Amino acid sequence: MKTTSLLLRLRSIWIMSSWLRHEGLAAAAMVVRRREKNLQRLEYEQKLESDVGQVGVDSRGQLRRVRVSRERRGLNDVPLGGSKPFDEKQAEEQLQQTLDKLTAGDGPHYKIVKVYTASRQLVSGTLTRIDADLIDGNDEQRRCIVEIWAQPWLEQGHKITFKCHNQPAVHARHSRSVEWAEKKTHKKHNHHSLNKIDHLFHVFQIKYKRRYANSMEHQMRLRIFRQNLRTIQELNDNEQGSAKYGITEFADMTSTEYTQRAGLWQRSANKPTGGKPAVVPPYKGELPKEFDWREKNAVTQVKNQGSCGSCWAFSVTGNIEGLYAIQTGELREFSEQELLDCDSTDSACNGGLMDNAYKAIKDIGGLEYESEYPYLAKKKQCHFNKTLSHVQVADFVDLPKGNETAMQEWLLANGPISIGLNANAMQFYRGGVSHPWGPLCSKKNLDHGVLIVGYGVSDYPNFHKTLPYWIVKNSWGPRWGEQGYYRVYRGDNTCGVSEMATSAVLA
Ligand SMILES: *[C@@H]1O[C@H](CO)[C@@H](O)[C@H](O)[C@H]1NC(C)=O
Ligand SMILES: *[C@@H]1O[C@H](CO)[C@@H](O)[C@H](O)[C@H]1NC(C)=O
Repeated sequence: MKTTSLLLRLRSIWIMSSWLRHEGLAAAAMVVRRREKNLQRLEYEQKLESDVGQVGVDSRGQLRRVRVSRERRGLNDVPLGGSKPFDEKQAEEQLQQTLDKLTAGDGPHYKIVKVYTASRQLVSGTLTRIDADLIDGNDEQRRCIVEIWAQPWLEQGHKITFKCHNQPAVHARHSRSVEWAEKKTHKKHNHHSLNKIDHLFHVFQIKYKRRYANSMEHQMRLRIFRQNLRTIQELNDNEQGSAKYGITEFADMTSTEYTQRAGLWQRSANKPTGGKPAVVPPYKGELPKEFDWREKNAVTQVKNQGSCGSCWAFSVTGNIEGLYAIQTGELREFSEQELLDCDSTDSACNGGLMDNAYKAIKDIGGLEYESEYPYLAKKKQCHFNKTLSHVQVADFVDLPKGNETAMQEWLLANGPISIGLNANAMQFYRGGVSHPWGPLCSKKNLDHGVLIVGYGVSDYPNFHKTLPYWIVKNSWGPRWGEQGYYRVYRGDNTCGVSEMATSAVLA
């Protein structure tokens, strides 16, 4: 009896312990496997980023993010989830390796032409983003953003996304086998790859053909772009009219760069302008609700000043083209380049004032046609030829400041008006009647010269809103704004529209 019960007890202990051993081993094996996998991952991440001492494997084999004190962080440390520029040479090598692996399968065949920028980000693996020109299987060169999301501890290995200019995104993964999937949209992969701003910035670079010299400039432009997105938000949030602001070709420029690119000098407040006060003939009866010199064949096509601060010259030729068309019935384009080359008071691409330009035209002896003296967006030797002078200027007039009714009357009687305004809201203008909140568009800071060619009123009965506006011809090409035009609120001197209104007087 005693022996039996002892044997039975021994047996149950053995069963129990063997069960325990079995389960325990399984559990221990799991810890070992997990630990191995994570050590592999850790080793991989550490190999890639020396600053990922922030990750460790704990006693249960789990990956742990270890906080690193601020002092230990160098300038080059990339916080997890953040992205940092990555050596272009290295990026090109990685891209080449990836392309080699992929061309072994049946995916698209690409050859590298040039790598513009590359950045690397740690997001449960490494996300490398490479912006490069690639030649595809049809020998066509395209600008592409290639994203390689590497998670080598997983079966799938690498996920690759190609997004080339004017092409649908292509997704692939490669490990042992190569799989392909083509998708029109790439919504799915967005959540863990491109953050929204990076994505917008890449789209911007492709759309406006930006090629930054190196990754340092790329990072700087990205910072400016991010700041500008906040400005756009601010303009939209505070808009009192119907305008929409968004990403334009100026979205990677600081406000200083943008202002220089416009090119209007400040008029000194106490010095006389040299113009005569304009005589504003009183209008008989009620002023028309709207008027547009474009419909009277007095406005030439929208021009483009390019990367040259010559707005002042375009503002003046626009005014003279209008006056000339109304006087002679003939619409002709006049030369800005002549002013860039021959007006020595103004400073060509470094800015100028309309007041000076009127005087210069008088002194030079007139303006040649655009076709005879074409625009080069750069100062050259003056080659004005008096026999080709088709229009002469006798004088110029200053319209009364802060009286937009007088401007309306003058415009109806005489033609388009040259004005200086604050172009803050124009940097991101996408259309609508622009009525920025005062503090965002000071009346005193005039930095751009343009041309008023008409006016009108927009009614928004659903919003109980009536928006009177000026139609402003700009010189940033027809792709900017509303086919090259800006509509700005009329009636409260928005952005200083009535502060510097002038016109030539033809001889
Ligand atoms: C000025 O233009 C006229 C007319 O085209 C031409 O005959 C003449 O040679 C030009 N003069 C100069 C100096 O280029
Ligand atoms: C604005 O100009 C108009 C027309 O010249 C004139 O009748 C009116 O009195 C002016 N208004 C102000 C406030 O000066």
